[in-house]
Amino acid sequence: MRITGRLACALALATIMAIPPAAAEPAKAARAKAYGANISLRMQNALAVDDGRPPLLQPKVFGGRTVPVGSDPWQVALIMGLTDDPERIPFCGGSLVAPQWVLTAAHCVDNGTEADAVDVVVGHTNIDKGRRVEVDAIYVRPDWVYGPIDDPIFHNDAALLHLSRPVTDGRTITPVATVVAGTANLRVSGWGATETSKGEMVRDLKAAGVKSVTNKQCNDDVAYGDGNAATPDRITPGMLCAGFAEGGTDSCEGDSGGPLTMAAADRRVLVGIVSWGDGCAEKNKFGVYTRLSEYQRWVADCIDGKPCPKQ
Ligand code: ARG
Repeated sequence: MRITGRLACALALATIMAIPPAAAEPAKAARAKAYGANISLRMQNALAVDDGRPPLLQPKVFGGRTVPVGSDPWQVALIMGLTDDPERIPFCGGSLVAPQWVLTAAHCVDNGTEADAVDVVVGHTNIDKGRRVEVDAIYVRPDWVYGPIDDPIFHNDAALLHLSRPVTDGRTITPVATVVAGTANLRVSGWGATETSKGEMVRDLKAAGVKSVTNKQCNDDVAYGDGNAATPDRITPGMLCAGFAEGGTDSCEGDSGGPLTMAAADRRVLVGIVSWGDGCAEKNKFGVYTRLSEYQRWVADCIDGKPCPKQ
């Protein structure tokens, strides 16, 4: 059987459900219950790890480096909104694309996740030091498809979060430009799982350089192809692959929703959203990102106050 990262996500949920609530501390169990059934799979995963249950995720290697404080000023973390400071439970990343808007992955905030359930942390590479800001509306792409739980497909994995107030300061909190398409000098960042973090998110932001891979190469039978020309390609035009055929460096669980940027002249430009992968950093299993150029219109319309279709 092929144990894929996608399947691992589904298995992780099954594991959560199989654990009797008594295994968790009462306060934490109550908190988890307060969210009800309407939170994303990723949030359910994050809660389980935080409750001290065995790691549900199987992180491999991220291969990145801790980034200098003040770098990547558009990077935000998504944390559980119903917990008070100092407790911060990160479950995904995101990118500030306008003073009051964060772009993230649909699978981070789908399943009817309410805006109250999500806050973002801005302004610092250490998740405990940044400023916490409330989300007041969630726009999940209307055509987002998770697919069957045992074989999800991650189509149109994008969502926008509207913040309760503008947050930019032109320094440590700066939106990232999204206007140029390209694949040069890619870089991914996040607080996601690393080889040594036992399934937990790290507290200091990490980043890694990755190489772009064509969709054709990514759909090849040694990568995400299945050897059957009749089945639809897993990597669709709305997706972008990046990583290394030899493995070793990749985004991983918890990085979802975060930025894939490319170097453009004197700055970095957002080109993708961390979405999925089979495992992490495995040979020929490239990281798969939402290809931002395909969703640029929707993002721009929402930010400009034009009709913003959502699920
Ligand atoms: N789906 C994961 C998450 O929710 C992101 C996985 C990225 N995986 C990869 N191998 N690049 O955090």
